[in-house]
Amino acid sequence: MDDECQERSQKDIKTEEKGNEEKKLLSDPDPKASSVNLLEKLREQFSGLFFGGTVSTNFFHIDHADKIDHKTERRQREESSDGDGEEKSEQLEGIRNFSMVPRDVYEYLQRFVIRQEEAKKVLSVTVCDHYNHVRHCLANPDAAIADYSKPNVLLLGPTGVGKTYLMRNLAKLLGVPFAKGDATKFSETGYIGNDVEDLVRDLLRATNGNAELAQYGIIFIDEVDKIASSEESGRDVSGRGVQINLLKLMEDADVSIVAPNDITAQMRAMVNFDSKTCKKKSISTRHILFIVSGAFDKLNDHVRRRTADSAIGFGCRGKNGKNCYLDQATTADFVLYGLEPEFIGRLPVRVACKHLEKNDLAQILQRSEGSILRQYVLDFSGYGIALSFDDDAIYAIAAIAEEEKTGARGLMTVLERLFRDFKFHLPSSAVRRLHVTKDVVANPEDHLKMLLSSGSSGAADFL
Ligand SMILES: Nc1ncnc2c1ncn2[C@@H]1O[C@H](COP(=O)(O)OP(=O)(O)OP(=O)(O)O)[C@@H](O)[C@H]1O
Ligand SMILES: [Mg+2]
Repeated sequence: MDDECQERSQKDIKTEEKGNEEKKLLSDPDPKASSVNLLEKLREQFSGLFFGGTVSTNFFHIDHADKIDHKTERRQREESSDGDGEEKSEQLEGIRNFSMVPRDVYEYLQRFVIRQEEAKKVLSVTVCDHYNHVRHCLANPDAAIADYSKPNVLLLGPTGVGKTYLMRNLAKLLGVPFAKGDATKFSETGYIGNDVEDLVRDLLRATNGNAELAQYGIIFIDEVDKIASSEESGRDVSGRGVQINLLKLMEDADVSIVAPNDITAQMRAMVNFDSKTCKKKSISTRHILFIVSGAFDKLNDHVRRRTADSAIGFGCRGKNGKNCYLDQATTADFVLYGLEPEFIGRLPVRVACKHLEKNDLAQILQRSEGSILRQYVLDFSGYGIALSFDDDAIYAIAAIAEEEKTGARGLMTVLERLFRDFKFHLPSSAVRRLHVTKDVVANPEDHLKMLLSSGSSGAADFL
C-alpha cells in the first residue's frame, strides 16, 4: 500500500470512529445525555432561524445553565447521600426556633416605621400566627392537608406613608421564605408581562429550590390597586384577568415549578429529569400567606362621599381630613372601585395606613433608623463635612414636606432642593461644618453664600 492510500484509510477509520461516537450519543439510553444532545440540536436549528435578540440570549443561558446544573446536581447527590441537605435543615431550624411574639415584631418595626400602629399590630399578629401554623404543619403532616382559612392581608393607605416600607422591614426579619411582586408587572396571559405564578416560583428560589418550604412562604404583592378595573379607579379591564389569576393562587392552586412559557427552565427541567430535587413538580399555594398593598387614592374620595351622604343628620364625619376614610371602606366600596368580589373576599384582614402629618414627618427624620437625614449626614461626611441640625430646622423641613402631599417622600424632595447647592459647592471649599437652622431652611442660598465667603475658597463666585 502506498503512502497516499495509507493516509486515506487512517482518515476513514477516524471518520468511522467519530460517526460511531455520534450514533452512540444520539441513541444513548441515558435520558439526560439525550436531553443534552437535543439541546445542542435545537440550538443549532434555532440559531439558523433567529439571530441576535432574545432567543440566542436564551440559548446562551441554556448552555451556561446546563453546565451549572450538572455541578449542582452532583452536589445535591453528594448531599443527599449523607442524608438531608444542610441548607434545608438550616432553614427548617430557623422556622422551628422562631420565638418571637407579636409585640417583638411590633417593636422591631417600630424602630423604622413611624406611626401606622394598627398596620404594625396587624402585621405582627399575622406573621406570628403564620409561623405557628407553619411549625404546626411541619410537625404534624395531617395539619398540612386539613382545611385552613388564610388570614391574607390588604394594606391600604395614601402614597408615601410606609406601606411598602413596612413590608420591606418585615421581610428583613422573616425566616420563612418571602417573595415580592408588583401587580403592575403582571399580564393576564403572562406572555407579555409576568405571570402571577412566577411569584410562587420566586418563593422556590428564595428557598434554594426547596419546594416543601416554599409552600409555607409569604408573598407580598404591591400596587394592587392598579389592577382594579372600573371607571371609578380609572383603569382598563385588563386588570380583571390578573385578579382572576391571582384569586386562584390566593386560595389553593398547584403551581408548576417550571414556568410553561420559559423555554430555558423547561430545558433545564428536562436535563434534571431524574434529579432528586425535581421529584416535586408543583407547589401548593394552600398555606402561602398573601399580603397585598395599594394606595387606593380614589377610593378614599368615594368613601368620603358615601359616609358624608349616610351621615346627614348624624353629624358623623371624618375628623382629620383625607386620611380617615379608607379604614371605613367596605367590601362593596372595593367592588365599586373595580376589585372582583372573589378577589377582595380572599383578603379578610384589612388595615389602613394613616396620612402622615408634620409631627410624624419630623419624627421620621429624627427617630427612624432608616431616616433620610442619616443618608445626608453620610453623604456630607464623605467629603469630610460634618452636617448637623437644629430641632427647629427639622420641623421646618417637615412642614414644607407636608405641603407636598406625598407622605414621607416629600421629605426627600425638600431635602434635595435644600441641599443641592450645598452638595455642589461645599466639597470644593474650605468649609468643613454645616449646621442647619430654621433660617438655613428658609434661606439656603444666602446662607451658602455667607459660608463660602467666610470659608475664603473663592467658590462663592459661582453663585
Ligand atoms: N411611616 C413611616 N416611617 C418611616 N419612614 C417612612 C414612613 N413612611 C414612609 N417612609 C419613608 O418613605 C419612603 C416611601 O415610603 P413607602 O415606599 O413605604 O410608601 P408607600 O406607602 O408604599 O407609597 P405608595 O403607595 O406610593 O407605594 C420609605 O422608603 C421610607 O423611607
Ligand atoms: Mg408602595
